[in-house]
Amino acid sequence: MDHQPLRGQRALVTGASSGIGEGVARALGAAGASVVVNFASKPDIAAKIVEEIKTSGVDAMALHADVSKEAEVEAMFSAMLSAWGQIDILVNNAGLQRDAPFVELTLEQWNTVLGVNLTGMFLCARAAARSMIRRGVRPEISRAAGKIICISSVHEVIPWAGHVNYAASKGGVGMFMKSLAQELAPHRIRVNSIAPGAIMTPINRAAWETPEALRSLLRLIPYGRVGTPADIGRAVAWLASDDADYIHGQTIYVDGGMTLYPEFAKGG
Ligand code: BGC
Repeated sequence: MDHQPLRGQRALVTGASSGIGEGVARALGAAGASVVVNFASKPDIAAKIVEEIKTSGVDAMALHADVSKEAEVEAMFSAMLSAWGQIDILVNNAGLQRDAPFVELTLEQWNTVLGVNLTGMFLCARAAARSMIRRGVRPEISRAAGKIICISSVHEVIPWAGHVNYAASKGGVGMFMKSLAQELAPHRIRVNSIAPGAIMTPINRAAWETPEALRSLLRLIPYGRVGTPADIGRAVAWLASDDADYIHGQTIYVDGGMTLYPEFAKGG
């Protein structure tokens, strides 16, 4: 088996200075891709991740952009394209939560979550697609002209009280991804999502950091363990490779069975 199936490809991972994005950036580097580590707020951590990715013999660089801001996204893509000439893989990962009971949810919390989790995916995918369409397929690089992978969530399909803004954004990612897949298919751009379950990262620290919280979280995961960023990184690296060339317009759940209605294992 080819351990560097992405050799020679150039990837951009949004929100790559922590959590799942960091795991994805590292996995793409290990699979042979050069990687842009996008960050919104932690330049020194992003710089350290870049140095570590480079030890696999690939190129890497950190680029700042708040993905909800059009001008910042455009500047980031210009910087990447002028340095490397092309983008082969976009991983739309940047995402955040601003949780509140619905009647207390502020417009700012709503807009912040929709802005990063959904508008950010639009702005980055548009910039990437323009460049992928311009270049077209280069068979020596990949069977596709480009790959766009959205990091969704089990909350694309599992409703989530107290997190209405977040669940609405991920539900939106579902139709965003599929409609885009339909539109970009004639250009040979593959568009898919990976939908993680509970992955141990800063976004959900409260759900795993105490033994009681962890016990109640594990009741929602039939496979009996919390996921790691590396679990998601490996799935993304494979989905971006030509081994997954016929997968298009799909959401793949990587969740230890969280979407299997675990309450029904002993009920119903
Ligand atoms: C959320 C996490 C949560 C997980 C499973 C993710 O999309 O960001 O906070 O633990 O879904 O519920």
